[in-house]
Amino acid sequence: MDKKKLLYEGKAKKIYLTNDEDLVIQDFKDSATAGDGAKKGTIKGKGAINNQLSAFLFDYLRSHGIQTHFEKKLSKTSMLVKRLEMYKIEVVMRNIAAGSMVKKYGIEEGTELKQPVLEFYLKDDSLHDPMISNEHAIAFGLASAEEVTEISRYAKKINVVLKDFLFRRDLLLVDFKLEFGTQNNIIYLGDEISPDTCRFWDVETKKKLDKDRFRQDLGGVESAYQEILKRVLG
Ligand code: TMP
Ligand code: ASP
Repeated sequence: MDKKKLLYEGKAKKIYLTNDEDLVIQDFKDSATAGDGAKKGTIKGKGAINNQLSAFLFDYLRSHGIQTHFEKKLSKTSMLVKRLEMYKIEVVMRNIAAGSMVKKYGIEEGTELKQPVLEFYLKDDSLHDPMISNEHAIAFGLASAEEVTEISRYAKKINVVLKDFLFRRDLLLVDFKLEFGTQNNIIYLGDEISPDTCRFWDVETKKKLDKDRFRQDLGGVESAYQEILKRVLG
């Protein structure tokens, strides 16, 4: 598959066109940002790890009936994916209180939620991705009512599948962010599934093994990513 023009460069990935208009190449970078880009840095080896992890987890989800944009791995840091029309929505699922939920509602970090919480955010860095309700998403024309229902159903299923898989690897899936898009009116899971977009804690010690080590200057960032790769790929 030939890599053509750079279509888009985000904070953690570059997207290239290919000679097939329905497919693009997603190339994972080592660069990391936090706080809407206010904090910038590099996590050595992150691009390759997030590519491998995403490829593996997309395959795993496919085997459980979730349609994803993933086609195949192309190189250490890149994968071939379907070109999607992305929803301007970030979908967050939470099992344990952490991050913005703790700040916003004063719930103690680590509190197990009585049921998973599904949240939608408007994907707009200039507005700091404000939280929106289902009704905002529909009213703003970001997705139809049927699409919101389908996306919610996928997110809940993905949570169950990933949470169980990770628990068997001694990892708690604290929360995670998903992005969906469409091609020919079919909804696919897009973007990535990695320690950049999920919170993973060790079951026993509750040690953070994700991007929070970078966000909170906890040190041991690279080794946390390597540990996740080792546990997930076995
Ligand atoms: P939050 O607690 O900061 O709202 O984050 C919830 C989850 O979403 C967490 O697993 C990290 C992920 N996330 C992203 O992937 N990108 C983002 O820009 C933010 C703010 C969070
Ligand atoms: N992705 C966000 C940013 O670049 C922040 C985060 O992941 O915490 O600022």
